[in-house]
Parts: sequence; C-alpha cells; structure tokens
Amino acid sequence: MRVFILGGTGSIGTAIVRELRSRSHDVVALCRSEVSEEKIRNLGAIPYRGDMRAPEAWVNDAIDHDAIIQTAATFTEDMGDIDARVVSALLHASANATKTRRLLYTGGCWLYGKTGDEVATEGWPFNPLPAFAWMVSHAEKLLRAEFLSTAVIHPAMVYSEDGGVFEEFIDAARGGRTIEIWGSPDTRWPIIHRSDLARAYCDLLERHDLTGHFNAGAEQGVRVSDIVKTLADRHGNTLEPSILGVEGLAERHGDWAKGPTLDQQMSSHKLRQATGWEPKTGDYRLSDLLA
Ligand SMILES: NC(=O)c1ccc[n+]([C@@H]2O[C@H](COP(=O)([O-])OP(=O)(O)OC[C@H]3O[C@@H](n4cnc5c(N)ncnc54)[C@H](OP(=O)(O)O)[C@@H]3O)[C@@H](O)[C@H]2O)c1
Repeated sequence: MRVFILGGTGSIGTAIVRELRSRSHDVVALCRSEVSEEKIRNLGAIPYRGDMRAPEAWVNDAIDHDAIIQTAATFTEDMGDIDARVVSALLHASANATKTRRLLYTGGCWLYGKTGDEVATEGWPFNPLPAFAWMVSHAEKLLRAEFLSTAVIHPAMVYSEDGGVFEEFIDAARGGRTIEIWGSPDTRWPIIHRSDLARAYCDLLERHDLTGHFNAGAEQGVRVSDIVKTLADRHGNTLEPSILGVEGLAERHGDWAKGPTLDQQMSSHKLRQATGWEPKTGDYRLSDLLA
C-alpha cells in the first residue's frame, strides 16, 4: 500500500513508520524541517516537505495515496484549529478523489474522561478534557465522509523503549530525584508499548472494511503507584514519591495536565476481535524499557 503519514517523526508515528516499512508498504511522511526529513529517511520512508498549518499545499498529493494516517499534533494552544484545517482539507480533497481512501485518525484514551472502576469500551460516552474536545467532532466528521473509509484509533498511554509517558518517572528515578505523581497514586492508566500500538495501526490500516472507533491498549488499567515503584526499584531509587494535587497543575502546565490524573480503564476487546491483534508486551514490567 502507498501510505501518507502525518506525524511520522513523533513518538507514535516513528513506530508506525517502522512497522509499515517492515510490512513493505511505501511510506511518504509530512515533514516540516530538515531534521524531520532526515529522521524519515533513516526510517526508510520518503519525506514530503509541508506543514499541518498549511494543508492546501500538500493535501492533494496526500489524498493520491491508498491510505492516510493522521497522528500529528502541534500541542500548541491552537492545536484544535490546526487539526480542523487538516480535517477540512482532507474532507474536501477526498470528495474530489476518484476512489475511496483508507484513513486512520488518532484520538486517545483521555477522550473518555475518568472511568474509575468501569472499563471504557468504544460505546462509552465521550467526556473529553476541554483541551482535546475538538478530536471527537473531527473524528465524527471523518467517519461520516463518503469517500473515506475511516477508523479512529484511541491509544492508551504510550510508553516506549525511550520512556514515552514514563519518561519523567524514569529521569527522576535514574537521576536520584524524587518522582512526582500528578493527582493520586491510585490513578489507573491504560497503557501500551508503542511497537504494539504501531502493529494495531497497521492491522487496522490493512482492513478497509473496519471503520469506526477502536481502542488500543495492552493493559486495561495499571496503578501509577505500581509503575512508579517498578521504575524506582529498577534504578535503585528509594525516595518516597511526592504527590502533586490536581489543583494548580492545569494553571502551571495547561489543561492537558489533567489527563494523567484521570483514573481510567479501557478495553481493546473490539480491536482484538476484529483484527486478531494481540500485544507482544502484555506486561510493561517485562518490556525492553526495563531490560
Ligand atoms: N503519546 C501518547 O501517550 C498518546 C496517547 C493517546 C493519544 N495520543 C495522541 O497521538 C497523537 C500523536 O502523539 P505523539 O505522542 O506521537 O506526539 P509527538 O511525539 O509530539 O509527535 C507529534 C508529531 O506531529 C508533528 N508535527 C507537529 N507540528 C507539526 C506541524 N506544524 N506540521 C507538521 N507536523 C507537525 C511532529 O513533527 P516534528 O518532527 O516536526 O516535530 C511529530 O511528528 C496526538 O494527537 C496525541 O494526542 C498520544
């Protein structure tokens, strides 16, 4: 398949490009800098110079591919507006295309809000943080588009061999500093290793018949206190973690900072049933991160 990816140099996108190439798909990736272009070449893909902020410059070439993956985000105040431009350009270009294109759009577990002891399936009502609320309406627009076969993938919290969402914990543990936990140590995070997530993207991408929302997590909900203890033990850090209350976090870091404080559990049963996908790392304690 000829695949055009947005965000191919990101934490998630890097793993997707690697997986796509290992399956012999041809990959073209949007890049806004020389550094990103170099990264993409090193992954065996082809860079395409362009910016999410100006989709009119690249969208017709993107839509000319068999499939498009959107996993780019600016993480700026106006990230929703920028994504809206991309979505609107994709909708417009696909309406003028001669055949249906496969599209994977990235949402996220935080769109479900706090689930507590319940487990979010794809039927769970969305209750997003204001900072990410736009994702829900953008996903719905793409799902309704006549000439797009769209699957929306909701990754759990993504960790990787480089740390990913565990990075701050690892840095503190390794540096002999106190690990900070935002919110409560009892908070549960659905988690996934990025290489498993990349396989989920590719499995879904290759199944044009599968449209709608799909959660992707390897572990339904792991307590942050367990993650922190595991990482602290791994690095011989014996300091008690400090707990930062939710109040003030958003003021200091922005609204997104409430995300890691959400007590969540998320099921990926639908993805497993539909594609046969299974995580290779079903337990983060056995991952390359702790090797
Ligand atoms: N990581 C997680 O745990 C997680 C979990 C659930 C959902 N998600 C969602 O997944 C998506 C990707 O997350 P991530 O963690 O992979 O993010 P990331 O590592 O920050 O990557 C962001 C990507 O977007 C690209 N980008 C940023 N601004 C751009 C612009 N103006 N034009 C073109 N490309 C631009 C970056 O390219 P450069 O090379 O130029 O920087 C990079 O490839 C986000 O929507 C996020 O909300 C992430």
